Amino acid sequence: MKKTILITGGAGFIGSHVVRLFVNKYPDYQIINLDALTYAGNLENLSDVDKAPNYTFVKADIRDADAMDEVFSKYGITGVCHLAAESHVDRSIAEPMAFITTNIVGTVNLLNAARKYWNGDFEGKRFYHISTDEVYGSLGAEGFFYETTPYDPKSPYSSSKASSDHLVRAYCHTYGLPVVITNCSNNYGPNQFPEKLIPLAINNIKNMKPIPVYGKGENIRDWLYVVDHARAIDLVYHEGKTGETYNIGGHNELKNLDLIHILCEIMDQKLGRTPGTSASLITFVKDRAGHDLRYAIDATKIQKELGWTPSLQFKEGFEKTVDWYLDHEEWMNRITSGKYQAYYEQQYERR
Ligand code: NAD
Ligand code: TYD
Repeated sequence: MKKTILITGGAGFIGSHVVRLFVNKYPDYQIINLDALTYAGNLENLSDVDKAPNYTFVKADIRDADAMDEVFSKYGITGVCHLAAESHVDRSIAEPMAFITTNIVGTVNLLNAARKYWNGDFEGKRFYHISTDEVYGSLGAEGFFYETTPYDPKSPYSSSKASSDHLVRAYCHTYGLPVVITNCSNNYGPNQFPEKLIPLAINNIKNMKPIPVYGKGENIRDWLYVVDHARAIDLVYHEGKTGETYNIGGHNELKNLDLIHILCEIMDQKLGRTPGTSASLITFVKDRAGHDLRYAIDATKIQKELGWTPSLQFKEGFEKTVDWYLDHEEWMNRITSGKYQAYYEQQYERR
């Protein structure tokens, strides 16, 4: 059977890496990238693959149920990698409703479209939902998130993702839809929108602007290079067991403040600045409301069952990431002009 894979959110950060990998690695598949091009979607992220004969872009909103039905029948979708989402915790605190409509209702629209179009014939079909480790809540100093850890989401973002995960599992249990879910830790790398910590810090350091660190900078995240996440998604799409969940993580836990210091050192070196220049920009600001203390993934299951391990550790990954942002000044300038300024002011000027 010919494979036609719908990748939602393919113009975003992680989605663009997944689209690139699938378009290049599987010339026999048709890859349909469906994206609404919100502030976070940027087709420039795909300029190296958008002329490929096996690639099609569709501008559509997953909140539009009719449009989802139409895409399934028009293109003959045989599989889905669902990444489209509102993805930023701070925005979910400021305006939760978009997270409910896109992350929950949008996911259900896709589940319904798949169910209708496949109509009980699930042979060779797959609905892969990409989720986050934030659904498990917040850890103390010890312990890890396992696939069996009870859900305990704390932010509107993580609650909306948790809700969509439950609905995906319910469609598997109730209707037999062949689903698979992964929950991944924090990603970093090229093409990430500079509302997230790492690209925001790199951009501010480059421009000698304050680096806003929430609270005391003691919160801990487990960082994974985005290309390693895309490799894991490829593996799970093809070899993950239907109905299963796999956690994906980088084994790279860092306190925010330590991470920022590492970035500052790399930036001083790359920009030929006197050591300590970039670190002088560190500015402690008002903490995020309900800020989760620590995320840490136990990725033993995907390692043992599917043979996936991260290829990059943070030192090498951060170097590559800084190089990419310094080499793509135009990309950053285009993104940070216009609406970004208003967002930045609202988010940071009052902290
Ligand atoms: P992103 O914000 O960079 O990209 C999201 C993409 O979805 C954008 O291209 C946007 O235009 C599109 N989109 C948003 N609303 C849409 C709608 N209603 N209809 C169609 N398209 C819409 O996000 P990301 O960081 O690439 O995350 C992708 C997925 O991975 C999300 O589901 C997120 O929850 C999950 N995830 C992200 C991380 C991370 O560290 N970034 C970690 C684990 C899981
Ligand atoms: P972020 O990149 O928003 O990812 P998430 O909240 O999904 O983990 O934030 C990563 C960490 O960095 C998180 O603990 C919040 C913190 N942070 C700051 O200290 N300052 C900032 O300006 C941002 C955006 C995040």
